[in-house]
Amino acid sequence: MLFEKIEEALPDPIFGLNQKFVQDTRKNKVYLSAGIYMDGQGNAPMLHTVKKAQRIWVEEDTKASYLAIDGDRNYVEKLGRLVFGDRLWDTSKDRIYGSQSVGGTSALRIAGDFLKAFITDHIFIPAPTWANHIPIFEASQLDVKRYVYYGQNRSLAFEKILGELKKGKAGEVFLFHGSCHNPTGADLSQGQWQEILETVQKTRILPFFDLAYQGLGDGVEEDAYAVRLFADSGIEMIVTTTASKTFGLYHHRVGGLYILSKDKNACMKISSQIKKLIRSNYSNPPAHGAQVVARILGSNDLREEWEGELKKIRERLQNMRNELVDRLYQESGLDWGYLKERKGMFAFCDFTKEQVRRLLEEYGIYMTENGRVNVAGLNESNLDYVVDAISEVVR
Ligand code: LMR
Repeated sequence: MLFEKIEEALPDPIFGLNQKFVQDTRKNKVYLSAGIYMDGQGNAPMLHTVKKAQRIWVEEDTKASYLAIDGDRNYVEKLGRLVFGDRLWDTSKDRIYGSQSVGGTSALRIAGDFLKAFITDHIFIPAPTWANHIPIFEASQLDVKRYVYYGQNRSLAFEKILGELKKGKAGEVFLFHGSCHNPTGADLSQGQWQEILETVQKTRILPFFDLAYQGLGDGVEEDAYAVRLFADSGIEMIVTTTASKTFGLYHHRVGGLYILSKDKNACMKISSQIKKLIRSNYSNPPAHGAQVVARILGSNDLREEWEGELKKIRERLQNMRNELVDRLYQESGLDWGYLKERKGMFAFCDFTKEQVRRLLEEYGIYMTENGRVNVAGLNESNLDYVVDAISEVVR
């Protein structure tokens, strides 16, 4: 009996709730767990621009063979231009190696494997952070260390972040969220990023940006501020990104990994090693989603329309966050005004674990155990119910 001794693993902290939610027979249940964009009707819609680009893809695509191990070069360039901006891409492309990835997750994992093989045996990640960062880097056999990102008083622990960075040694890797920090939504200001960059340059730490929510905070350009600031300084760095949120292509698994080195020669060697890592993992990525993204970014009309769709998404997220805060204040005097300043999909609420448990068990309101609420899951049909429930459990 080989398999008898296997113990059941703990459920995933984010997706692990999905099955329970589906099986929950309560009519007023509310899903606020995974970071998926939902519209005012509670659906996760396919963007119109994605639909249009898919139609074009179906007409034009005649090739059925494999993509290159590190993906479609046209897509990698288009996505790279989105992340770094045209000017930086044009002036720095010789030192940027880019690879298509299977969502942001595989970009992180391939980067983790690369770091473990050639750079370091440990990585510093923020506390708190996206729950999956820890298992991904552990799977890469990296020792995962934490630096304090968020303070007691519902605010960014900037002095602590800076303090940790100052202690960093050359070649040590620090992970940052490029924008819309997950789960807190609390981002560094432009001035603070400047200070972080100066410290990184002094210590020669290797910065690693996870840019999963570009365009869902302040805008496509604004949300790339930190990544572009660092890239512009000429330092070595790593950037991972995903089209899951930005293009609503969750189930197509589309992302990218960019490694910025000193020159073309280093890029060539990095490219050979990344391809080796990918080949022994998933061999090469799927074509469809990436080529859809490349078509949107490659057409002026589609790109403009897509930016309009993204703007509406951003505005709805901010509206729902504001509504939650305002109605909680009106209903129960609860002052969570700090949430209004936050960026992206989440409201990191001050719930105890017990309050999160009660919201789930007594009211059928599903959020992650750390009190992270996906504000896209809120709409006019459930907002009052959620506000009443929160008012009950926090009183
Ligand atoms: C989230 O944070 O909920 C999303 O990024 C979905 C995921 O893969 O965990």
